[in-house]
Amino acid sequence: MGKRIRVDKLLAHMGLGTRSEIKRAVKFGLVQVDGRLIKDSGLIVDPDSNEVKYDGTPVVYRDIVYFMLNKPQGVISATEDSRERTVIDLLEPNDRLRDPFPVGRLDKDTVGLLLLTNDGQLAHELLSPRKHVAKTYEALVQGEVGDDDILAFKGGVTLDDGYATMPAELVIERREQRDDGVYSSISLTIMEGKFHQVKRMFEAVGKQVVFLKRVSMGALVLDESLLEGSYRELTDAEVELLRSHKRTVE
Ligand code: URA
Repeated sequence: MGKRIRVDKLLAHMGLGTRSEIKRAVKFGLVQVDGRLIKDSGLIVDPDSNEVKYDGTPVVYRDIVYFMLNKPQGVISATEDSRERTVIDLLEPNDRLRDPFPVGRLDKDTVGLLLLTNDGQLAHELLSPRKHVAKTYEALVQGEVGDDDILAFKGGVTLDDGYATMPAELVIERREQRDDGVYSSISLTIMEGKFHQVKRMFEAVGKQVVFLKRVSMGALVLDESLLEGSYRELTDAEVELLRSHKRTVE
């Protein structure tokens, strides 16, 4: 038995628009199945045996997947490694078969949101430095993070290699006194993704990140019900959000 999928879902899946844009395209007579114009965007098709055309061009269906992983500490953001466990090792064998790869990197000791997909185009756009996709991190920082740091991050700080960062938004959540000094819980939103960026930004102001978690990337927010090390497929709404965000944030 072939795969059965709604034609609007298939076309949205292939990046031809949101479900409502596809619905409109069907109304305008842009979508054909096996040579016939269709009227119902909910028509069920089998991509292996039905020929779907969008605006006259055949649409080749690829099995694209999007997984949201809550990355645990101790695994690296790579597809393979001879020594270390990778984020791909956390996937079920069936999901690994679809060749997903991590969109960007989190350090081995960083936890939280990591998108895994085999959609090279979306990955490329999310990672493109020109798109300024916002990423929000929560961190525990050794030291007293203060208003001067908020101002410094807003203006951009200079990293150890001389790179001046773009404006970033720092929010101080809490401070606590421990035996070895003050610690601050913060959240930080950055619009770029240099190597070890968050840790190096704090180093630039004389402080050390001791725990780091990513909670969002573009429009995608970590599902807090996912335990560290577990993952799920993105919902259709999440995929659409990611795509539309990508379109508007230039
Ligand atoms: N910044 C870091 O320093 N590490 C990460 O893993 C992500 C952002």
